[in-house]
Amino acid sequence: MSNKVLITGGTGFLGSALAIRLVKLGYKVSIFDNNLRGSLNKIKNILDQIEFVEGDIRDPEKVKKVTHGIDIVFHLAFINGTKFFYEKPELVLDVGVRGALNILDSSLDSKVKTFIMASSSEIYNKPTNVPTNEHERAMIPDIKNPRFSYAGGKLISEILTLNYLRRTKIRDLIFRPHNIFGPDMGNEHVIPELIRKIFLASNHLKNKKCSIEIQGTGKETRAFCYVDDAVEQLVCMLKNGMKGELYNIGMQKEININKLIEDISNLLEINVEVLSSNLLRGSTTRRCPDTTKIKSIGYKECDNYYLGLGKTINWYVSNLRKQYT
Ligand SMILES: NC(=O)c1ccc[n+]([C@@H]2O[C@H](COP(=O)([O-])OP(=O)(O)OC[C@H]3O[C@@H](n4cnc5c(N)ncnc54)[C@H](O)[C@@H]3O)[C@@H](O)[C@H]2O)c1
Repeated sequence: MSNKVLITGGTGFLGSALAIRLVKLGYKVSIFDNNLRGSLNKIKNILDQIEFVEGDIRDPEKVKKVTHGIDIVFHLAFINGTKFFYEKPELVLDVGVRGALNILDSSLDSKVKTFIMASSSEIYNKPTNVPTNEHERAMIPDIKNPRFSYAGGKLISEILTLNYLRRTKIRDLIFRPHNIFGPDMGNEHVIPELIRKIFLASNHLKNKKCSIEIQGTGKETRAFCYVDDAVEQLVCMLKNGMKGELYNIGMQKEININKLIEDISNLLEINVEVLSSNLLRGSTTRRCPDTTKIKSIGYKECDNYYLGLGKTINWYVSNLRKQYT
């Protein structure tokens, strides 16, 4: 059985959830991460059942060593978080491109059986169709905007994967996650930012009414997918995905930011007034994946959005309380 899995970026939000699931399914898991954004705390319950190697994905020797004897690679190590795309574009690209080259070279050397690359919905930019399927054109609309360091790094990673592995026996798969959320997902994302704003504006949830300012009008849409549902999609892709194929990962349920704020305020039992402001340059106004393809290879959809939102709010509120007392 091919069961030795390497997860780069495995102490991060999605990687740690995937690692926990794969250990449960009986895979032998190794994790490679420099803990820039991830932490061992996320994998504390499986630490004695996995191998953890601390290192930088840009270090070719270390990457080669950790890939030796591996059957399946999930490459998730990347600089995530919108704030960093604007503030550290050169680092985003360095980790994205050098990291992709190193892990691809090592996977070829080690003759892994399956190579899975994490891409992103960001490569669709402003899609021509919503819900968006995998045939949508990819695009970078403004080469001078540092925001696109992230989408650029992901596009290069996709192209490298498909072309480096095209003539090999390695089964290469690419997934494009769409707004995966859950507890401990980092702070630079829409859901944690909204929870924080409401927490502070309501005086630590003591006031039952508050107002917050958001980027945009609130009519912009996203499709939020709870992390456990995303992990099931990744497991399905690992089992049934076809060589050289791309898969959207996410929930095909488009909601606008005002509805998201309403759901958060209902769960917190706080009446929230929303004040709009300008969107950041380059932001996408609509995003929702068409998930037909992942369903066609066996994923049975479950929707834990509301349940997951409750868990996520509890996690962030309890952390904010610790931070502010
Ligand atoms: N969460 C989402 O909704 C989402 C959406 C689109 C794409 N993705 C992609 O999925 C993957 C996982 O995302 P996530 O949400 O878990 O992000 P994350 O930031 O929590 O995880 C990324 C991990 O990569 C590690 N890392 C960063 N630089 C590194 C380096 N130089 N060497 C080794 N490790 C390094 C970080 O420490 C972190 O643990 C990423 O590739 C991300 O771009 C996620």
